[in-house]
Amino acid sequence: MYDFLIVGSGLFGAVFAREAHQRGKKCLVIDKRSHLGGNIYCKQVNGINVHQYGPHIFHTNSKRIWEYVNQFVEFKPFVYSPIANYNGSLYNLPFNMNTFYQLWGCTSPEEAKDIIEKQIKKEGISNPQNLEEQAISLVGRDVYEKLIKGYTEKQWGRKATALPPSIIKRLPVRYTFDNNYFNDHYQGIPIGGYNNLTRGLLEGIECKTNTDFFEDKAYWESLAKKVVYTGKIDEYFNYCFGKLEYRSLKFESEELPQKNFQGVAAVNYTDAETPFTRIVEHKHFEGGSQSTTVITKEYPLGNSPQNEPYYPINDIKNTELYQRYKALSEALPDVIFGGRLGEYKYYDMHQVIASALKYFQEKPHSPGKQFTMEE
Ligand code: FDA
Repeated sequence: MYDFLIVGSGLFGAVFAREAHQRGKKCLVIDKRSHLGGNIYCKQVNGINVHQYGPHIFHTNSKRIWEYVNQFVEFKPFVYSPIANYNGSLYNLPFNMNTFYQLWGCTSPEEAKDIIEKQIKKEGISNPQNLEEQAISLVGRDVYEKLIKGYTEKQWGRKATALPPSIIKRLPVRYTFDNNYFNDHYQGIPIGGYNNLTRGLLEGIECKTNTDFFEDKAYWESLAKKVVYTGKIDEYFNYCFGKLEYRSLKFESEELPQKNFQGVAAVNYTDAETPFTRIVEHKHFEGGSQSTTVITKEYPLGNSPQNEPYYPINDIKNTELYQRYKALSEALPDVIFGGRLGEYKYYDMHQVIASALKYFQEKPHSPGKQFTMEE
């Protein structure tokens, strides 16, 4: 008998398994995919680690989480500095003095601030009614038209004027020449790729891939005292209240017979006409000298049962639906629902690790659950 059956070998499942294993608990990890690691999985193509489910940059302000992941794999320092391509012109992201120089030729923070403030004032939007108005009221028309509008409309498959203003709460603007996308103190990429992190976490733990929990739920549950479930919460309850919605993506990868395609890990296509939202060139994460390169075009996809669920759509309707499933989950003392699908929540990697580690702190994680590691 296992102490824990862990459904899903992504970061939540893998961290949970590692911590339980370390405390002498017997764990079995199953995953329906053909590989371990969930969405951080990398596929090796001629020595290049291809981030199969979108580009992953590890970033955190927590020394504890940084030291935690560094136990399992060494990280190479990496600063994510994507470029925006708007109809063939290139701009630095996030919005900073480099971007403002490229947009307006201005060389001082005062000049840039003045231009943005004048543009905001000219529009006179005091109570934004949609995403377009919200964005313009925060950064002015030029930044909005060239760097936000097309990209956002492609992502959501709708006009910015038909999207709620709440999607954009703030738009960070930096009046320094700083292209570092994340503000976090610790940032990097695991040397040799994320599979090394997964391997380190799951070392010595029994794992089965190509194994779908729902193909024989009763059997898998009968093997363990408790279940840690990181799949979709609505699927666990057989969609009894209806389906939660997700935005999805399609990844199209190709290997090119050249060393360097775009000179940077990510270029965002911010115009409305280019059908994809970005091109990722994977070798730039680790700085490889291979003679070929692999690029991935990322296309936004809407919500559909056939599409892989990536980003929860946390609008009012879905949030209410999730709360109903959450109430059901809280009535099951022997099942823990965790991770981005189990909690219907967008988590960055450091956050999902922290959320799994909470179960191993002295106080139980969730007041609703009768669960501690000492049981
Ligand atoms: P994850 O999805 O990784 O794992 C769940 C696992 O459960 C999967 O392997 C799945 O196959 C399995 N499963 C589901 N149902 C099952 C069933 N019925 N039976 C068996 N197995 C089942 N974060 C960050 O910090 N920096 C970044 O740069 C990025 N970039 C990024 C790009 C894109 C495009 C996305 C969508 C996300 C990111 N992230 C990110 C977020 C990051 O991917 C995320 O935090 C973790 O992968 C979440 O790990 P989980 O374990 O929660 O889910």
